[in-house]
Amino acid sequence: MILVTGATGTVGREVVSQLVGEGRPVRALTREPDRDLGFPRSVEVAGGDLGRPETLGAAVAGVESVFLLTGGGPETPLHDANLALAALDAGVRHIVKLSIIGAAYGFDDLVSTWHLAGERAIRQIGDRPGGPAWTFVRPGEFMSNARLWAGPVKARRTVIWAQTEAAVAVIDPRDVAAVAVTTLTTPGHDGQTYRISGPEALTVGERVAKLGAALGDQLTLVERPVADVRDAAARAGRQPLVVETTLGNLGRPEFRERAATVLPAVEKIIGRAPYTFDRWAADHVEIFR
Ligand SMILES: NC(=O)c1ccc[n+]([C@@H]2O[C@H](COP(=O)([O-])OP(=O)(O)OC[C@H]3O[C@@H](n4cnc5c(N)ncnc54)[C@H](OP(=O)(O)O)[C@@H]3O)[C@@H](O)[C@H]2O)c1
Repeated sequence: MILVTGATGTVGREVVSQLVGEGRPVRALTREPDRDLGFPRSVEVAGGDLGRPETLGAAVAGVESVFLLTGGGPETPLHDANLALAALDAGVRHIVKLSIIGAAYGFDDLVSTWHLAGERAIRQIGDRPGGPAWTFVRPGEFMSNARLWAGPVKARRTVIWAQTEAAVAVIDPRDVAAVAVTTLTTPGHDGQTYRISGPEALTVGERVAKLGAALGDQLTLVERPVADVRDAAARAGRQPLVVETTLGNLGRPEFRERAATVLPAVEKIIGRAPYTFDRWAADHVEIFR
């Protein structure tokens, strides 16, 4: 049995779907198990909250491997530690944590720092007798962050964003999930850390042009200060600190250079090239109509 946390979100839902496609037994963790989750019938649903350790014992019982995804906020180290301790108690063999690329470079921004602390907690718990092995998957920015553009694109054919000149090797969450699924289901990944990116570095302007091409329409890009984008993202339900940190990083030359670097790991691990932004846009164009 494989436990997938974050199973109702962008990456976790894809991890569930790919594991089910391989015929693997899957248990999905959510804080709201009673709502209609839209999983295939074979998926077991477990109610639980990573912030409430007393809810995690039943979720990890009988589990061999865990895909561990936290919301990415300041609670990340505590949530990683809570799940790793429950996994230790239950005799789980392997945890695959979704981390972030900044952790690979030791960046001191908030989000990288939270994930690094989470990784450290998992390593320490893994070092205890009978502790779980671990793998850390460290992606750069997701292509799906473009979903935040949907409102203004629908209303005015306009994208409002910050740091639009920075090129980023954005990655399709389906590829993040595919890397996680491979590390969960094939041997040789214990104690490994994987830096992963998409196949090409694209500025926001280039991504907006590709999205326009998928829509068959021309989009206008408007550059705004980070604080304006942060506030708009907060109104759309995103964590403002995370948006501010991610965009703020792109103002730092050392991060900008790393963010633009195309890495070979996805193809090495999953055996095919990562998806392009053209493909992501074509597959998600309805969100923007
Ligand atoms: N966006 C990027 O560009 C990017 C890049 C690199 C790394 N990351 C990392 O990716 C992660 C976010 O992935 P995502 O975009 O797939 O997430 P998402 O779509 O925002 O979904 C968040 C998931 O986390 C679950 N969750 C939140 N709080 C929880 C809690 N207290 N207990 C149990 N489950 C909880 C939610 O489940 P329920 O609501 O059903 O309980 C939901 O399934 C973060 O760790 C972030 O740092 C993001």
